[in-house]
Amino acid sequence: MTALALQAAGVEHAFGETVALRNVSLDVPRGTVAALLGPNGAGKSTLVDCFCTVLRPDAGHLEIGGVDLMRRPQQARRRIGVVFQEPTLDTRLSVRANLAVHCAAWGVPRAARQAAIAEALEVAGLAHRADAPAASLSTGMRRRLEIARALLHGPEVLILDEPTTGLDAASRLALWDHVTGLAARRDLTVLCTTHYTHEVEAADRVHVIAEGRIVAEGSPDELRARFGHGVLRLRPRDLAARRAVEAAHPDASWSDGMATIRPSPPDTVDALFHRWADAARDISIERASLESAVLALTEKGT
Ligand SMILES: Nc1ncnc2c1ncn2[C@@H]1O[C@H](COP(=O)(O)OP(=O)(O)OP(=O)(O)O)[C@@H](O)[C@H]1O
Ligand SMILES: [Mg+2]
Repeated sequence: MTALALQAAGVEHAFGETVALRNVSLDVPRGTVAALLGPNGAGKSTLVDCFCTVLRPDAGHLEIGGVDLMRRPQQARRRIGVVFQEPTLDTRLSVRANLAVHCAAWGVPRAARQAAIAEALEVAGLAHRADAPAASLSTGMRRRLEIARALLHGPEVLILDEPTTGLDAASRLALWDHVTGLAARRDLTVLCTTHYTHEVEAADRVHVIAEGRIVAEGSPDELRARFGHGVLRLRPRDLAARRAVEAAHPDASWSDGMATIRPSPPDTVDALFHRWADAARDISIERASLESAVLALTEKGT
């Protein structure tokens, strides 16, 4: 059994003149939660559609749990549960009927359906609303229902395309808690897209996509350390130290005898800290946020 639940290698896709994916490679180890983070139009849904076999990429290779998507699409598709960006519930039907339709469509054996639906209602926290029309559910409840429905046929991978769109800040975090809890309890692998940077703190690994390219990947901490350069604040201990700092960092800004230094790569703020620690009366690092790290990676440079 392969250790990778999802694998994309060199995936390319264009819609006419618009290139949506450029040489995208991404690995998601089994049992982990991966976030695909990028601004509008970055290519997130296009990659999701390729993984779901809705779209056939122009080039590249895709595997789900070691099964080649191009060669054995049926087998690969059964291994994934998908929640698309656009809601696909039939809001006129009851919660239970929405689940039953999916059971029939995915060939869940008749004898197993009742138990599968009861479990899905439990997973969604909607057992008390089973017979209400889906139209009467809140946006967060609808998302939980779609997630539970996607798991009805027992997939090992759950793919969610911007599941938190339309939810308020508290409900967004609650939904991530719900998803990471499910992943842990059911030994699922999750790939979840979003354009909200602070949400990806819940993911094991973050793949940042911009203009169809993966521009960075790592854990939230790694991304912060690598791309959120932060600044060094330092008050030299005497005039000689101040002169040395001024000579080494002509771009530093000074206020009340305190310098603010922005490291220029490959220098890191930690390296600067060690370099100047002995020359300083006060010295501290102000870490950048994940938000600023990701913005720096994804802004178009216009
Ligand atoms: N069916 C289509 N026909 C033409 N162009 C498309 C089509 N679908 C997507 N695109 C284009 O491909 C690029 C990537 O779109 P995609 O929907 O994958 O981005 P996204 O990251 O999911 O964005 P969003 O956050 O807005 O959902 C965009 O430039 C988009 O306009
Ligand atoms: Mg999208």
